[in-house]
Amino acid sequence: MKVVRIVDVCKDYLLGEQKVQALRNINLEFEAGVFLAIAGPSGSGKTTLLNLIGCIDTPTSGKIYINDRDVSGRTPDQLADLRARKIGFIFQTFNLLPVLSAAENVEYPLLHRRDLSSAQRQERVAHFLDVVGLSNYTRNRPNQLSGGQRQRVAIARALAIQPAIVLADEPTANLDHKTGEEILLLMKRINRKLGTTFIFSTHDKRVIARADRMIRIEDGQIAKLGKRLRSRWFLVPNQLSEAHRSSDYKPVQPGEAPVAVVEGRHADQD
Ligand SMILES: Nc1ncnc2c1ncn2[C@@H]1O[C@H](COP(=O)(O)OP(=O)(O)OP(=O)(O)O)[C@@H](O)[C@H]1O
Ligand SMILES: [Mg+2]
Repeated sequence: MKVVRIVDVCKDYLLGEQKVQALRNINLEFEAGVFLAIAGPSGSGKTTLLNLIGCIDTPTSGKIYINDRDVSGRTPDQLADLRARKIGFIFQTFNLLPVLSAAENVEYPLLHRRDLSSAQRQERVAHFLDVVGLSNYTRNRPNQLSGGQRQRVAIARALAIQPAIVLADEPTANLDHKTGEEILLLMKRINRKLGTTFIFSTHDKRVIARADRMIRIEDGQIAKLGKRLRSRWFLVPNQLSEAHRSSDYKPVQPGEAPVAVVEGRHADQD
């Protein structure tokens, strides 16, 4: 099963009279359990792509499938329901509710779930705060937590709905390097242990180095698609990653990867 399949997707924004082509002819698919980094210069379309996968926004043309189900043509209410059940979000600025404690923030997305009793909600909250190492901070409000701890709360909140996919838009951008590294290792541990699919955008090459799939977007198009097999990076020749035999992959020299994959001829400003 493909957790995400994107077929011929374009996304245009209208700015007054002007049309901005934020994404052009995107074709991608990923199996469940990937740890995927989306790289690319500022304005290349990373957030737009995450918003489409997360059903926060809809494509101008093309189709998006989540767990093999077409999500185009759904009403805003149906999309909200899909998000509440299938997709966890982690944001650059954490986006916690300041008046709620850590535990209440994690519980928040579960309040809409009629299938969960209060006791089941509490159990999940305690479990996922434990997963992110915050069992001793359940009563702290966000302003009583460090940046790294706030992002841990946000990770627990994303996991609490037991989503098919966790989407993270530059999750380490507001953290110092060491804390960012810890958050990333935590996400990776969760990815390995629970099999949760993580898709995250980043400008940070060290973050990309931890991924096992990488796409580079330039000017709204997929410029490169990289896959790591047993600690070596390969360029995948076509946008549809899994459609190829691994003999089609072009290896990237050890030591170069993943920077070579990521940078190619188009060096980033960042
Ligand atoms: N709501 C919007 N209305 C009009 N144009 C938009 C809108 N959102 C994004 N864009 C444009 O779409 C393009 C892609 O933007 P996007 O936010 O996806 O880039 P990004 O890769 O996430 O950049 P950054 O690294 O700076 O976050 C940019 O040209 C941007 O100006
Ligand atoms: Mg962005």
